[in-house]
Amino acid sequence: MAKLPLLAVLLFLLPLLALCAEKQVYIVYFGEHSGEKALHEIESTHHSYLLHVKKTEEEARDSLLYSYKHSINGFAAVLSPDEASRLSEMEEVVSVWRSYPRKYSLHTTRSWEFVGLEEEDGGHRPYFFKNMGEELLSKAKYGQEVVVGLLDSGVWPESQSFSDEGMGPIPKSWKGICQSGPAFNSSNCNKKIIGARYYIKGYEQNYGPLNTSLDYRSCRDTDGHGTHTSSTAGGRTVANASAIGGFARGTASGGAPLARLAIYKVCWPIPGKSKSDGNTCFDEDMFAAIDDAIADGVNVLSISIGTASALNYTDDPIAIGALHAIKKNIVVSCSAGNSGPTPSTLSNPAPWIITVGASSVDREFIAPVVLGNGKKLQGQTVTPSKLERKMYPLVYAADVVQGNVSKDMAGQCLPGSLSPEKVKGKIVLCMRGSGLRIEKGIEVKRAGGIGFILGNSKANGDELACDAHLLPATAILYTDAVKILEYINSTKNPVATIIPGKTVLHTKPAPSMAAFSSRGPNIIDPNILKPDITAPGLNILAAWTGMDSPTRYEGDHRVVKYNIFSGTSMSCPHVSGAAALLKAIHPTWSSAAIRSALMTTADVINNVGLPLTDASGEFATPFAYGSGHFSPIKAADPGLVYDASYTDYLLYLCSVGVKTVDPKFKCPTTPPTSVNLNYPSLAISKLNGTVTVKRTVTNVGWGKSIYFFTSKPPVGISIKANPCILLFDHTGQKKSFIITVEARKETLSKHQNNEYAFGWYTWSNIFHTVRSPIAVSLA
Ligand SMILES: *[C@@H]1O[C@H](CO)[C@@H](O)[C@H](O)[C@H]1NC(C)=O
Ligand SMILES: *[C@@H]1O[C@H](CO)[C@@H](O)[C@H](O)[C@H]1NC(C)=O
Ligand SMILES: *[C@@H]1O[C@H](CO)[C@@H](O)[C@H](O)[C@H]1NC(C)=O
Ligand SMILES: *[C@@H]1O[C@H](CO)[C@@H](O)[C@H](O)[C@H]1NC(C)=O
Ligand SMILES: *[C@@H]1O[C@H](CO)[C@@H](O)[C@H](O)[C@H]1NC(C)=O
Ligand SMILES: *[C@@H]1O[C@H](CO)[C@@H](O)[C@H](O)[C@H]1NC(C)=O
Ligand SMILES: *[C@@H]1O[C@H](CO)[C@@H](O)[C@H](O)[C@H]1NC(C)=O
Repeated sequence: MAKLPLLAVLLFLLPLLALCAEKQVYIVYFGEHSGEKALHEIESTHHSYLLHVKKTEEEARDSLLYSYKHSINGFAAVLSPDEASRLSEMEEVVSVWRSYPRKYSLHTTRSWEFVGLEEEDGGHRPYFFKNMGEELLSKAKYGQEVVVGLLDSGVWPESQSFSDEGMGPIPKSWKGICQSGPAFNSSNCNKKIIGARYYIKGYEQNYGPLNTSLDYRSCRDTDGHGTHTSSTAGGRTVANASAIGGFARGTASGGAPLARLAIYKVCWPIPGKSKSDGNTCFDEDMFAAIDDAIADGVNVLSISIGTASALNYTDDPIAIGALHAIKKNIVVSCSAGNSGPTPSTLSNPAPWIITVGASSVDREFIAPVVLGNGKKLQGQTVTPSKLERKMYPLVYAADVVQGNVSKDMAGQCLPGSLSPEKVKGKIVLCMRGSGLRIEKGIEVKRAGGIGFILGNSKANGDELACDAHLLPATAILYTDAVKILEYINSTKNPVATIIPGKTVLHTKPAPSMAAFSSRGPNIIDPNILKPDITAPGLNILAAWTGMDSPTRYEGDHRVVKYNIFSGTSMSCPHVSGAAALLKAIHPTWSSAAIRSALMTTADVINNVGLPLTDASGEFATPFAYGSGHFSPIKAADPGLVYDASYTDYLLYLCSVGVKTVDPKFKCPTTPPTSVNLNYPSLAISKLNGTVTVKRTVTNVGWGKSIYFFTSKPPVGISIKANPCILLFDHTGQKKSFIITVEARKETLSKHQNNEYAFGWYTWSNIFHTVRSPIAVSLA
């Protein structure tokens, strides 16, 4: 009796295993739909392609996962490598790529990585919101006619941030649906969350059926990430919101607080992995979501998803999907990634996407350590529990270990490593390196410790990890950890205390680049400068799921309505929210015009009047911040924009060797070089002598105007514009100019191969400065 079911299971599994070994999901992409076929005809066309390579009708039908039929023409199917290669040889096929169980992960450093808090201060809305002014918001009607679509982990619809109280009717152009599923039905959509769909076929093809104790097969967000990003882009204004322990009390609000949200759940938990390892999102699922989002009628797409490094355009469902979205004038904003500060790490580099880096806001969460010798060391935390203001015995973890702990792990407070006898009632210094930070605190607590100091290792750089620990704690820099070690060595009875966390606002300098924000240069096309822009991504408060703790750690059972989170995942929806407002104010502007407005008005000076810095305090470069820190008020009135159409992007693709992705378009025999894409920034890689670049600006300001050219060339490079004065006599007028970029002979020999130098140029009149960063490397 016991054996029979086992055998049955094995028999059932065997064919599946065989299938897994040779067959994978491939995406077969034909480009843009010609628009002539009805939906059912398209599916049968896809089916007929499958019939070419499959033996039977049934096999062809069973292998098909998705038929993309709105804007994107293509399908996802289970194929053998041979079947895939036969399909890729067909004339009409643009590309075929295998959907690996790629480590697509949400761009989030673990929630406890940079948690923050804020005192009552009239709010901790997204940072820019404070600067944005009611005028801009009211001009944009708070975004109420704009639909922001998000590809993410779903949404927690009960959050007050998604209330539709007092909202007007849903825009008539909306064609989306509210897909029902476990714990999510049509009552969970309203006039705020106007659409919800989920995509799981690719995930289940790879991992098998969703483990329903980990997530719901519906748009309900059990992770928190999707709730956070969607409320950052378009959450309502909620008074008296707060993070864990009542910290950060104030008003929370999204960038476009009346914008409509359309939720596309594409990311799911990785079986056998902890939530803190993030989710996974499959190519074919995202591709389907983008195709639907375009057809549903979203105006802005916010995608805080990417790979660890950039993918080629035709193997990248976000890049291709975004291109189809751009054709319908949808603005697509994506996270640059969290793989910084290493160079060449950014993802989502396609020039039709807004690629967003992450930076700090002007607040810190100070919780100093005071040592028995009177020394005070700066620390940061958002831990709700507090020590009494008196001295406690202080020990270094490596001196209080139990059992067999290797020497290099001894200071790290790994689970089970501390001796309760030696730790009880004491403050323990633990070093970062291996293990989860939150777990180090839990280990100190387990061993009876009363408080915990988390020391950066040398490799952690200058960014402190603000965590909501489960016992009184603070985090300190490496140099300060060394000071504590020296103090412990210097005395028989070392003592210390941790002063409870306190928010300090208007800290300087701010903003500064987050160390984790992925950096350029762009490895897919070094002639396109990326990222495009930076926005707040460090310690951002937004709505949270009711089913995940603020630290996402399994041993943490706390529940919060709002949570503070860091990552380029958080900065991307800030830009999406701003784009929604711009879209509302300028409904006729193209996606490129909206991006240009955001980029050319971005700030490169911080709140002490100096250039933006990295976490280390060094000056940052455009490979960290792109054009600078976004400034939505200025972006609403940019003066001039660098526009680009869908056709311009097709021409650009010709120039980088991608055959046409639109059956109605043929590449010219000599396409323009990629540096001539009408981009609001300028990157020239491997300059040898002189390059001339053409750009065209459109006057979006008042009628008559004169703009003058100025530049600060990169060291050793000369920059000239012809003409250097632009005269406009009406709004909408376009003017072209040529920029000549020349390497001075004497510098050619001095430059290291492929080392970049940076500068900028501007067009300005009395009201506007239209600024473009320049990055040049020499051959
Ligand atoms: C949706 O679910 C809720 C809670 O289970 C239930 O009260 C409500 O009637 C459902 N609505 C619809 C339209 O099914
Ligand atoms: C589903 O997830 C739970 C919780 O992690 C785990 O205990 C269980 O074994 C999983 N079930 C399957 C079938 O993998
Ligand atoms: C905010 O909420 C807290 C706890 O929910 C409450 O004690 C406090 O009175 C509220 N403050 C305001 C201004 O509503
Ligand atoms: C991109 O395509 C080129 C040429 O086909 C190939 O050499 C390169 O490895 C690809 N890069 C990635 C990241 O797939
Ligand atoms: C301690 O662990 C190391 C490596 O795990 C092992 O080589 C060593 O024999 C162990 N020592 C004792 C005393 O158990
Ligand atoms: C503290 O003393 C120990 C043992 O004498 C030594 O190994 C260590 O380097 C000292 N640390 C500092 C920071 O002086
Ligand atoms: C730069 O251009 C000169 C003249 O066209 C050529 O001789 C030289 O090989 C080029 N250098 C590189 C590094 O491409």
